[in-house]
Amino acid sequence: MSRPAVDIVVLISGSGSNLQAIIEYLAQADTPARIVRVISNRPNAYGLKRAQAAGIETDVIDHQAYTERADFDRALAAELQALNPTIIVLAGFMRILSAAFVERFRGQLINIHPSLLPAYRGRDTHARVLAAGDQTHGCSVHYVTPDLDAGPVIAQAVLTVQPGDKPAQLADRVQALEHQLYPKAIGWIAAGRVALQDDQVLFDGVVQPSPRYLTTDPSQ
Ligand code: GRF
Repeated sequence: MSRPAVDIVVLISGSGSNLQAIIEYLAQADTPARIVRVISNRPNAYGLKRAQAAGIETDVIDHQAYTERADFDRALAAELQALNPTIIVLAGFMRILSAAFVERFRGQLINIHPSLLPAYRGRDTHARVLAAGDQTHGCSVHYVTPDLDAGPVIAQAVLTVQPGDKPAQLADRVQALEHQLYPKAIGWIAAGRVALQDDQVLFDGVVQPSPRYLTTDPSQ
């Protein structure tokens, strides 16, 4: 018997390289997951073209058309409610969502952030890692909660900072890791292996004490 589909909506604002990695993963994986829509808050986001090239329906909810943040959130929530996806993937979605929005979709919303959370929430993570002299850096997939970049972490991928690294180089290497990590985490959720319960991540039904860890070798 075929498995029931697991519907995913991806929210983007820009290039959509993570979206591309997820599309490619889903095309070859043994998974019931499928992207039912890609929504951008920017009409010219390149990720919309990537989605269309893959035959995925797209929509634009232009934040500039709304004077109030709450009105934009309501429009987005209405579309998500109609689609009723299992997973809402934030992939370079550069809008802060209101607490009311996040609470409404709690447990469905996930994000990828370019740092080893809880370190370096917010912006400019690569420069801050270099300024601190850290030897390791990476990215985190986490459930979205009202506090920015503070939700329970599902999985992380780690790299070593090399002497002479500049923020742009680190950004490229971290993004390459993101393209491995995000599809993997989505695959776990789609398979029903990962869930959010009372602000804790369950993995195979057991509370996960610390994030799943992906080394720079994605085969491990
Ligand atoms: C990613 O690097 C992610 O860390 C951050 O936004 C970036 C989006 O890139 N949240 P892309 O649009 O997926 O290429």
